[in-house]
Amino acid sequence: MKKIAVLTSGGDSPGMNAAIRAVVRKAIYHDIEVYGVYQGYLGLINDNIEKLELGSVGDMIQRGGTFLYSARCPEFKEKEVRAKAIENLEKRGIEGLVVIGGDGSYRGAQRLSEEAKNLKTIGVPGTIDNDINGTDFTIGFDTALNTIIESVDKIRDTASSHERTFIIEVMGRDAGDLALWSGLAAGAETILIPEVKADIEEIAEKIQQGMDRGKKHSIIVCAEGVMTGNQCGEELKKYINIDTRVSCLGHIQRGGTPTGMDRVLASRLGGYAVELLMQGESAKAVGIQQNELTCTHFDGIFQSEHNIDNKMYELAHQLSI
Ligand code: F6P
Repeated sequence: MKKIAVLTSGGDSPGMNAAIRAVVRKAIYHDIEVYGVYQGYLGLINDNIEKLELGSVGDMIQRGGTFLYSARCPEFKEKEVRAKAIENLEKRGIEGLVVIGGDGSYRGAQRLSEEAKNLKTIGVPGTIDNDINGTDFTIGFDTALNTIIESVDKIRDTASSHERTFIIEVMGRDAGDLALWSGLAAGAETILIPEVKADIEEIAEKIQQGMDRGKKHSIIVCAEGVMTGNQCGEELKKYINIDTRVSCLGHIQRGGTPTGMDRVLASRLGGYAVELLMQGESAKAVGIQQNELTCTHFDGIFQSEHNIDNKMYELAHQLSI
């Protein structure tokens, strides 16, 4: 393999730059030319592709976001659109493509590997949601988790001063990992996640029992996949008359300097993606499972639903009495 390309796609996540850096440096170390595709699949279609050098990724490991830019590109579902992307890669002699993103981005990569004559693709899990099969952690999850924890800690100060119940809405799309992990780490009284059906009446009773015992404030972490924070507040009002406030953390969760865990994860996964391309592997996603680097065929990634750690959910429940 002499030439490869790298792109970031879907929602950005802290650590994507560290992953790009790892791909670029690992490839150049092995005398492979690397091309950066700007704006994800959109750039692939529009031929927004440039050669990257060692210096292109200097001063990058610590930066949030992605210097290659990212985009959502629904038109990539069309075969004719993908043909244009393949043409742009082929005319440069690019034989390998590393796609850093979520499972929607992996689907595009899988199609490309099926439709291009001579293109191998490897996916690298980059999303704050931690919702991709085949890996214990995705790049950006740890940073977003820490951003949420810091925010909840601050909100708890004011919740306590005013003896209020706060509902904090966190991202995660259809997955509850961010809510569960942050709720456990920040000592939330209630955690609402899409994987477990919520009983608002029961939650209201729990808040009431807490107040009866002298508890002055309460924190509810609500995953966006369950309902919005405002909806949760409205629902609660049906069962209990308390002073509540809602805080939707929003895109602050997607930004910031990646944590050490995310930088290391991104570096390991980016480097491994290049190794796999050199070995002739394709249509696979890299991951980390029990601290070992692993790779899984895209079909295996799409086959099953994403699950949360039920034991952790139970524990969080037990600790929040
Ligand atoms: O997938 C990452 C994510 O941040 C989700 O948690 C969230 O639902 C979504 O992206 C928001 O997307 P956008 O930035 O396009 O509004």
